[in-house]
Amino acid sequence: MPPPLTRSTTTIILLLLSTTSATIINQYPYQEQDCTNKWIFIRQLPPRFNVDLLTNCSSYPLFNNFCPYLPNHGLGHKTHNKTHSWFRTDPLMLEVIFHHRMLEYPCLTTNPNLATAIYVPYYGGLDSLKYLYGPEVNNSFRHGQDLYHYLSKKDSPDIWDKYMGHDHFLVLSRSAWDFNQPEGNDPPGFGTSFLELPEFYNVTALTSEARAYPWQERAIPYPTSFHPPSLHFLHSWINRVKRSKRSTLMMFAAGGGISANPNIRRSIRLECENVTQLSDEGSGYSNLCEFVDCSNGVCEHDPLKFMRPMLQASFCLQPPGETPTRRSTFDSIIAGCIPVFFEDLTARKQYGWHLPEDQYHEFSVFIPKEEVVFKGLQIVDVLQSIPTNQVRRMRERVIEMLPRVIYRRHGSSLGLKETQDAFDIAVEGTLQRIKSRLDEVASQ
Ligand SMILES: *[C@@H]1O[C@H](CO)[C@@H](O)[C@H](O)[C@H]1NC(C)=O
Ligand SMILES: *[C@@H]1O[C@H](CO)[C@@H](O)[C@H](O)[C@H]1NC(C)=O
Ligand SMILES: *[C@@H]1O[C@H](CO)[C@@H](O)[C@H](O)[C@H]1NC(C)=O
Ligand SMILES: *[C@@H]1O[C@H](CO)[C@@H](O)[C@H](O)[C@H]1NC(C)=O
Ligand SMILES: *[C@@H]1O[C@H](CO)[C@@H](O)[C@H](O)[C@H]1NC(C)=O
Repeated sequence: MPPPLTRSTTTIILLLLSTTSATIINQYPYQEQDCTNKWIFIRQLPPRFNVDLLTNCSSYPLFNNFCPYLPNHGLGHKTHNKTHSWFRTDPLMLEVIFHHRMLEYPCLTTNPNLATAIYVPYYGGLDSLKYLYGPEVNNSFRHGQDLYHYLSKKDSPDIWDKYMGHDHFLVLSRSAWDFNQPEGNDPPGFGTSFLELPEFYNVTALTSEARAYPWQERAIPYPTSFHPPSLHFLHSWINRVKRSKRSTLMMFAAGGGISANPNIRRSIRLECENVTQLSDEGSGYSNLCEFVDCSNGVCEHDPLKFMRPMLQASFCLQPPGETPTRRSTFDSIIAGCIPVFFEDLTARKQYGWHLPEDQYHEFSVFIPKEEVVFKGLQIVDVLQSIPTNQVRRMRERVIEMLPRVIYRRHGSSLGLKETQDAFDIAVEGTLQRIKSRLDEVASQ
């Protein structure tokens, strides 16, 4: 028996099917757009590679039922009825969100020969669930083989063959580390072999977290809960962020950090508990540290829990957890809270297209985690030593970055010309990288 569908799931699937198989509706006045070197062709895939994975949203007993996160093209339900911009977004929906934005992209072509890049609307992160948590757990080396066969043999192989996949790209809504099992691993560890398959070596993969070495991986921002539908809503939020009174020096929203072993999260928790007892010594802050306990995933779909404290803090601590990157980095930027990083892999070595690597000192603070964990460096001391006017300048830079890390709402009236969001920047970066890759291959 097929799993029961919620009405919103069915709606989303019908919408997807109608847009993928028939006409593409452009939201922008694209006759004004210069599409030179920007044309993208979308490969048609059978539904088992995307929409069928959504109908199966409740069939992974060891994983959470993700049906509640499907409405609004993957943005999830609104946080409350009256909001225009705030949703209970699950980062796993990045593949769905991106796909829908792609359907609105102003330079789509139906002629693959005209395209600079070929988008593969495959929901690889969702497809991986059956290998990671489902019945295919012993076949994780097969993840991607079916897709490769389809792209290169079954459906118009000439599209693949033209550049042997070098012009293809796809999005994976999980860390690249979840797809790096060597094919021969027996018994397999956690993860599938998708990014280890030679079949996909030529394909650009946009992931939530990339590994440092493979050239074809690029990290793009995690989707946050903020998806404004127009310039008006973006600007009124930015004004609120600018006006917000920052009465807390630093805040930390996370679970974990309770193990007995020394690690950065533990050090932060201990320091935070310790400093909150201290009285304010003319720093201008009424609170030196606020800890928001997000254990057991209580914050994941409830942005109010952490956005309010982030709006009231000058600095937001972003230590690595199980993996180096955090969605919270982007939440804090949206709140105008200056991120404090403890290793370069958390952001600097990941999101070069969205947050330029050479500008980190302007909008973030770096404190090596070893200094804190093993040498007793107090984070509070470092942050308090930064002069007030420098803190203000950094916050202004954070707010300048804000539009670059949001995924605006589908069908929004926000003109491309006015502002580039995370999607636009990811597509631009992908087009450039594919173009230079094709030049490289041609010259070999
Ligand atoms: C969805 O679930 C059904 C029943 O478990 C399974 O037969 C089918 O292959 C699944 N589809 C996809 C695309 O995973
Ligand atoms: C939100 O709107 C829905 C449908 O219009 C309604 O059923 C629900 O009661 C509303 N919730 C609140 C909290 O107002
Ligand atoms: C996977 O392999 C292990 C070890 O051989 C076995 O115990 C387990 O039942 C298998 N799982 C599935 C879902 O086939
Ligand atoms: C990837 O590209 C190289 C040439 O750069 C080619 O030799 C190889 O066959 C391609 N791989 C696939 C799976 O098409
Ligand atoms: C707590 O604060 C005191 C006074 O500043 C300091 O000496 C001590 O090292 C702190 N302890 C921790 C665990 O941070």
